[in-house]
Amino acid sequence: MTTPATTRWTSAVGAPQLARLLASQRTAQDEPGRRVPAYRSLADGVRLLIHEGRVPVATRLPAERELAAALGVSRTTVAAAFEALRADGFLESRRGSGSWTAVPAGAPVPTRGLEPLPPEAAGSMIDLGCAALPAPEPHLSAAFRAALGELAPYAHTHGDYPAGIPSLREALAERYTARGVPTMPEQIMVTTGAMGGVAALSRLIAPRGERVAVDHPSYANVLQLLRDSGARLVPVPLADELAGWDLPVWRRVLRDSAPRMAYVVPDFHNPTGSLATDEQRRDLVAAARAAGTVLVADESMADLAFDEGPGGRLPCPLATFDPGGSSVITVGTVSKSVWAGLRIGWVRAAPDIVRSLVAARAYADLGSPVLEQLAVAHLMTGDGWEPAVGQLRDRARGNRDALVAAVRELLPDWEFTVPRGGLTLWARTGGLSGSRIAEAGERLGVRVPSGPRFGIDGAFEGYVRLPFTIGEPLAREAAARLAAAADLVRTGAVSGADVPRSYVA
Ligand SMILES: Cc1ncc(COP(=O)(O)O)c(C=O)c1O
Repeated sequence: MTTPATTRWTSAVGAPQLARLLASQRTAQDEPGRRVPAYRSLADGVRLLIHEGRVPVATRLPAERELAAALGVSRTTVAAAFEALRADGFLESRRGSGSWTAVPAGAPVPTRGLEPLPPEAAGSMIDLGCAALPAPEPHLSAAFRAALGELAPYAHTHGDYPAGIPSLREALAERYTARGVPTMPEQIMVTTGAMGGVAALSRLIAPRGERVAVDHPSYANVLQLLRDSGARLVPVPLADELAGWDLPVWRRVLRDSAPRMAYVVPDFHNPTGSLATDEQRRDLVAAARAAGTVLVADESMADLAFDEGPGGRLPCPLATFDPGGSSVITVGTVSKSVWAGLRIGWVRAAPDIVRSLVAARAYADLGSPVLEQLAVAHLMTGDGWEPAVGQLRDRARGNRDALVAAVRELLPDWEFTVPRGGLTLWARTGGLSGSRIAEAGERLGVRVPSGPRFGIDGAFEGYVRLPFTIGEPLAREAAARLAAAADLVRTGAVSGADVPRSYVA
C-alpha cells in the first residue's frame, strides 16, 4: 500500500539516465565484505535515488526490458528488483501504464516549512533554523532616521501604495538597469518580502491544482506555500550539489509536464548553495518559453556573492534572457542583504503582469509599510547600500569559513560542497538519518532543519541544512553538539522518529 499522492506519475526517467544515476550511486553492494544479490542491489539503488530526491516520487520508470539492456543485466534481475520495490512500497505498477516510484504508506513525509524560534525563547539553544543575519548597523538605523525625515509628504496622503512607493520602484528599476536588464518602474511591485512576491505570483499564475515545477531540493517555505495553495509540485532534481540545474532533465520535465509555472533559485540556491551558469540560465529560459511555462526566479541570495567566480564576474540575472518580463519573472528581497525584519521584497515582471498583481493585492495584504520602503529606497540610492551589504557579506563569508572548518573537524564523515555565496550549507550526514539527527540535536541544544523539509515526499533523509548565521566560537559548539547528536543516532539511542537510523541500505 502506498500513499494516495503517488497514484499518478508526473515525470519519467529514461533507461540510459536511470543507468547513469545508478552508476553514480553508492549502495550496500559497495560495502566491503557484503555480498548482495544483483536484484537487491538494484532495488536498493533505486530506493536510495528516491530517498535522495534524484528520482522524484511519481516518476515513471523505464520498461523492464529497456532497463535490463541499459544496465547489461538480465530482465529477470530487473523484474525481481521491481517486485522487491513494490513489496516495500517504493513502486506502483498498473498494467498498460507502467511503473512509477512511490513512498510507503505511513512513512514520515515532513511537509512543514521552517519555524525559527523567537530569539527571546532560544535560551542556550543554538538555533540554526533560520538563514538570515542580524542587521548591518549603524547603516540600518541611519536609513530609518533619513526615512523619518522624508515621511511628511507621505503622511499627508492615505498611505495606500499597492505597487510600492514611487521612489523605491524607481530605485529598484535602476538597479536592474545597472545590472544589464533595462527596467521601468512600471515593471516593479514592492511586496512583503520575497515570500509575499511568490505567494502573489502563485495565486495569479498557478491557481489551485496547476502544475508547478521546482528545483529538488528547494526552499522549504516556498514548497510549503505552493503545497498550501494546492499546486501539484513537479520536482526536478539538481544535477548534484553545486553543479545546479540538470538541463536535459529540465527540458524533459517542461516538455512532458508543461507546468504553468516553475520556481527556481539561480543564485546561491537554498539549501544547496549552487550558482547557475550563464549557459544554464539561457538554456532554461529557452526551454521554459518553448513549453509555455512562466519561470519565477527567486534572487533572494543574489547579493551575497563571496567572490566573483571564473571570468571575474557573476552570472547575469535570469531576466537578461527575457527582459520584457513575460516569461521570466524575478522575485527579490532585502531580507538576506540587509535585514529580514524590514519585510521588503519585490517582483519584476511585464507591466501587465504587475498591474494584475497590484489589482489582486486589494484583497490580499493591500501594500507594504511606507517607512520601511523609504528606508530601503534611501539605502539603495544613497551611499549606504554597499557598506551595509558588504558588512553582511563579510559576516556570512566568515561564518561559512568557521562552520566549514568546525564540521570538517568534528564531523569528518559529513560531505558537502563549499558554496561561493549565499547563506546555506547542504550537508550529507554520513549515512545517518537527518530527521533523527535533528531530533537528537533538539535534545542536545542545537536546532537544525532536516533534509526532507527541502524535498517532496520524504526525499533527502540523509541531509541537514546548516546556515551561515554563527561564527566562532558558536560554530564549533554547534558542530560539537551535532557530533554528539550523530553519536546518539548511530548507537540507536534516538528512536522516537519513525525513520530508519541509516538511510543507506
Ligand atoms: C530562496 C529564498 N526565498 C525567499 C526567502 C524568504 O524571503 P523573505 O524574508 O524576503 O520573505 C528565503 C529566506 O530564507 C530564501 O532563502
